[in-house]
Amino acid sequence: MRTYINNQADDDAIHAKEDKLREWFTRHCDPIRKIIDGLDIGWGGVQRWATRRMPAIDGPHLDLACGYATFLAQLGWRFPESCLIGLNIDYSGPHALASSLLNQAGVTATLVQADARQTPFADGIFTSASCFLGLQDIQIGFGKDGVRQAVAETIRVLQFNGALTLLDTFSIKQFQDLLDDLPILVVDHGERHLNVHWDRQVAERAIELYADGWVTQIRLSKQTTQDRTWDGIHHQMAEEMEHQLATQGYYTPFGPVRMVVARKLKP
Ligand SMILES: C[S@@+](CC[C@H](N)C(=O)[O-])C[C@H]1O[C@@H](n2cnc3c(N)ncnc32)[C@H](O)[C@@H]1O
Repeated sequence: MRTYINNQADDDAIHAKEDKLREWFTRHCDPIRKIIDGLDIGWGGVQRWATRRMPAIDGPHLDLACGYATFLAQLGWRFPESCLIGLNIDYSGPHALASSLLNQAGVTATLVQADARQTPFADGIFTSASCFLGLQDIQIGFGKDGVRQAVAETIRVLQFNGALTLLDTFSIKQFQDLLDDLPILVVDHGERHLNVHWDRQVAERAIELYADGWVTQIRLSKQTTQDRTWDGIHHQMAEEMEHQLATQGYYTPFGPVRMVVARKLKP
């Protein structure tokens, strides 16, 4: 039997769980950093929107590139009786937090360490799968081919008619190109802006942190960046920040998240 919450009252209950988890997640942060790091929990309402709109989970569900499991927590809150499996390439560094975050969230999920391009799972064992802001990371580390391989691999482990929900900052056209030729049918797509309105003080600190993060990520993925330095990337973000503060009076650090839901066409 499907068990899922799908009305406003339960959305409010999930909102309260987010607030509690965010408080724990940012417990060691100063007040500004609390706002910036707290975004990871819920992603400005986008995760609640996504779990409200995606097909209900009614069997084993795979969440790939689960990172430190913030989307797994949302899945567990929205679909409390689901059987959740998270997969990530590592659980070291910040991702070591995944199991304690799930613990705090009161959500049970099995965490598997593997490359999404080649998973240890048998064909067709999942009734559904998801990926929240993971494809962009796979693209940074393994290029567009890596993303295609990861999506094809996820389709392999989905059962016939199983639902694949992908959420990322890619354009719908990029999603279409990615899914082209794969044995799936897109049944829904949508877009959601982050409900995040930061003032200058928070925005200035955030872009410094994001520039640091960008440099670290590039270093880890061993890419060369002849023409893009910390100063270069920070300058670009500062321009965007100034534009937003001048035109709308607040800063939203990231663009909208787009969601594509597809169903597997062949057994
Ligand atoms: C930004 S996180 C995504 C957010 C995450 N879904 C959440 O709910 O918190 C992206 C993750 O993708 C992981 N990743 C990158 N390449 C991967 C791959 N080839 N296979 C599995 N995970 C990968 C990274 O380790 C990182 O934890």
